[in-house]
Amino acid sequence: MAQNGFPEGFLWGGAVAAHQVEGGWNKGGKGVSIADVLSKGSHGVDRVMTDGVLPEYVYPNHLGVDFYSRYKDDIALFAEMGFKCFRTSIAWTRIFPNGDEQTPNEAGLQFYDHLFDELLKHQIEPVITLSHFEMPYHLVKEYGGWHNRKVVDFFVRFSEVVMERYKSKVKYWITFNEINNQRNWKYPLFGYCNSGVIFTDYDNPEQSMYQVLHHQFIASAQVVYRGHQINPDFKIGSMIHMMPLYPATCRPEDLVFAQEAMRQKYLFSDVQMRGTYPAYILKEWARNNITITTQPGDDEILRNGCADYLAISYYMSNIVSPEYTKSENALTFFEGSKLNPYLQASEWGWQIDPVGLRYSLSELYERYQKPLFIVENGFGAIDVQETDGSVNDDYRIEYLKAHIVEMEKAVAIDGVDLLGYTPWGCIDCVSFTTGEYAKRYGFIYVDINDDGSGTLARSKKKSFDWYKNVIASNGAQR
Ligand code: BG6
Repeated sequence: MAQNGFPEGFLWGGAVAAHQVEGGWNKGGKGVSIADVLSKGSHGVDRVMTDGVLPEYVYPNHLGVDFYSRYKDDIALFAEMGFKCFRTSIAWTRIFPNGDEQTPNEAGLQFYDHLFDELLKHQIEPVITLSHFEMPYHLVKEYGGWHNRKVVDFFVRFSEVVMERYKSKVKYWITFNEINNQRNWKYPLFGYCNSGVIFTDYDNPEQSMYQVLHHQFIASAQVVYRGHQINPDFKIGSMIHMMPLYPATCRPEDLVFAQEAMRQKYLFSDVQMRGTYPAYILKEWARNNITITTQPGDDEILRNGCADYLAISYYMSNIVSPEYTKSENALTFFEGSKLNPYLQASEWGWQIDPVGLRYSLSELYERYQKPLFIVENGFGAIDVQETDGSVNDDYRIEYLKAHIVEMEKAVAIDGVDLLGYTPWGCIDCVSFTTGEYAKRYGFIYVDINDDGSGTLARSKKKSFDWYKNVIASNGAQR
């Protein structure tokens, strides 16, 4: 490894998720996923989780950006930028349309065979998430989502099938995307997308959330264990949405409050990286009379299924204090968080904090001493396409550049073992939280608008050539 800068073989790339780009929601034998019944929202207008696909709603994920048909051309553009890796997810419903079948859908398996072959043809390493906000809708309707332990077995079967099928094509896996979002059980979109459960429908929502989590921790550990049997070279990661919560002031009470608040994130990586529940959560459950149903052998499953690396998404930070009760954060990732007066925010209220990325990487590396992978980071903005077709997204370049600078410090000064960096939405796609197209992240512009107009044509933004240069110089030129 170089003394300074990024190590040789650093995985520069980009990230998306199947349901936000693919479209083809009912093609190739695919079943209905929970993303297919999520209506379009906008900033401040929540997406609706409808009871099936209903004619009066617009469902942007049905079309995505038509990656299902256009992936070859899109991958050629990724290759032109010099991507070393590409993160996407496998839509569970392409492989098991309802989730509880015995036999997988061959057409769905073939789609990902072709997709991975295309990536490998361009020497792009696939980084594959097994669960990124889109389980089969049938498992929600008939089984109650991840609240039901049977779903653990369905997910493990799905994971085994794809890990076996792609064992010579995919090395890097991630079990659950941003598994910790649902810790905020009051915000329905999070529980629904993480696990197909709306926690407020239960008498004891918090207990239900921890029950769901236990099932997902067990599933993740089983997948890690089985994956290593299928191919000992697999690197299987867990993932959290990392958002450092700073004490609002230097008052010791604020510091301790922030420390406790951070446990709402660390719990998820603590269990998946260390294979056991930490002391603080056992105390919390006892204090709040929370009882989780477990099965004999669960402790051993967790112990034997520790993840190989920790993947994180990183977009922003927030400040907290025991005095704050109402969140100013658009998304309420943490109830009682406020905007930091030292930071600027995007139009969606996400605060820009590159230094917080270095801080996060150091904290996490020192906590687990296992490799880290930044699998999401980026700037959602309204891009303007000029009459000549160009998009001058200097704000995006500035955001990414500042984060790369801090990421390099984490590697070169703090000694963090960092596997790679995949900015979110490397090609414009459907926003998860709002279902909009208008919130764009890409280096590649897609001609599609919220009213459904547009040709879906792809074009390069200014950031395209900038990122190409970053990759070509292994991060030195930015
Ligand atoms: C992460 C998700 O939360 O943030 C992605 O893993 C999502 O699926 C991304 O798209 C950005 O969020 P949004 O709402 O701006 O699309």
